[in-house]
Amino acid sequence: MQTFVQGVHHITLCPGGAQEDVDFFTQVLGQRLVKQTVLMDGTIPIYHLYYGNADADVGSIATSFPYARKPGRAGSGQLSCTSYTVPKGATTFWKGHFDAHGAEHGGVQERFGTKYLRVRHPAGLLFEMIEDSSDQRNPWTTKQVSRDVGTRGFFGAVLSVRDVRDQESFFVDALGFRKVGVDGPYHRFEVPGTGAGRFLDLHHEPDRAPGSWGFGAGTAHHIAFNVETDDALVKQKAIYEELGFTDASEVKDRFYFHSMYVRSPGGILVECTANVPGGFYQDEAPGELGTKLHLPPWFEEQRAAIVSRLEPITVPEENRPKSGAKAAPRPAAAAEHKAAAEPAIPVSRTKAAFEKSKK
Ligand SMILES: [Fe+2]
Repeated sequence: MQTFVQGVHHITLCPGGAQEDVDFFTQVLGQRLVKQTVLMDGTIPIYHLYYGNADADVGSIATSFPYARKPGRAGSGQLSCTSYTVPKGATTFWKGHFDAHGAEHGGVQERFGTKYLRVRHPAGLLFEMIEDSSDQRNPWTTKQVSRDVGTRGFFGAVLSVRDVRDQESFFVDALGFRKVGVDGPYHRFEVPGTGAGRFLDLHHEPDRAPGSWGFGAGTAHHIAFNVETDDALVKQKAIYEELGFTDASEVKDRFYFHSMYVRSPGGILVECTANVPGGFYQDEAPGELGTKLHLPPWFEEQRAAIVSRLEPITVPEENRPKSGAKAAPRPAAAAEHKAAAEPAIPVSRTKAAFEKSKK
C-alpha cells in the first residue's frame, strides 16, 4: 500500500501544574523547552508547552497541556509511556539521576533484548530511557545531563490496548507500519521512514480498564506522525475513509504545522502532521526557543486576557538566551507563514474566544 507517514512527529500529554511540568521535563528528563504557546481549542486558556532535543527535531517533541483543572484516568486505549533513546550503558546514569531527584522509577528492565528504565512524572505519566547507540541525533544538555548520556529524541512510544488485532490492522493498513516482533505482551511495529525513533510497542493488557479520552491530568492525549505535506494529509484522510474510519477531522492550522486527527480502533487518538515552512523558528530565533510565550497572530488581540489566566512559569536557566544569540524573530518568518497560511487545501482555524473570568 502507499503510505505517507514518515515517522513520529510529536507526542502530546496532559500533566497537572505548568511549573511542575517544566521542572520535570527540563531538570529530570534533561529536555530543552522549545516553545511556550497555548491550546488552540476551547474557551479556557491552557498552556501548550513543547520540549525536545537540542535541534528541536521532529520526532523528539513531547508537548504538554498542563490540565490541573481536571484529573484524567490512566488506562487501556491510551499511550501509556513515552520512550526516549539514550546511548548504550546510560541507564546506569539515569537510575542515579532519578534517585537524586526523588523520581519514582522501575529499575533497569529489558524487552526485545534492550535495556530500559521507566520513570514517573509527578502527574503520573510514564517515560522510559531505552538504550540504542545507533541514534545520532543531537541531545540537549544541562548541568546534570551531559552529552554522553542525554536523550537523542524518541525511540517511540508504548500504547496500551485490550485487544491487539484491530489496532494492528489500523497501523498496518491505514498507516503502513510493519510488525517487527513480539516479546511477551509487547507487539512491536516499525513506522515507515528513515532514521531513529520509529518504534511503537502495543502493550496487550486485556484486563486493564479503559482510560479517559479527553484532556485530563495524568494521561496522554495523542501521538502524531509526520506526513510532510498538506497534500499527504488529504490523501491520508482519504485512506482512513476508504477503510471505514469516517471520523477523521478536517485539517487544522496549528501555526507551526497542520494537523488531522482520527480515533484509532484501540482507543488511541492519532494525529498526522505536516510542517509549515519555518516550523518552530517562525517566531523565535534558534537561540531563543522556548523563552517567551508565543501566540498565533490570530490570537494576539486576546494576549492580555490569555496571560492573566495562565500560571506564571520560570524558564530554566539552561533555556535562557546565551550571550550573542540573535534576539529577534527571523525577518522571513512573517512572509513564510503568510505563504503557509494560504495552503492549496482548506485548513480550519479556531478563534481565540476565551472566557474573561476565572473558574
Ligand atoms: Fe498534536
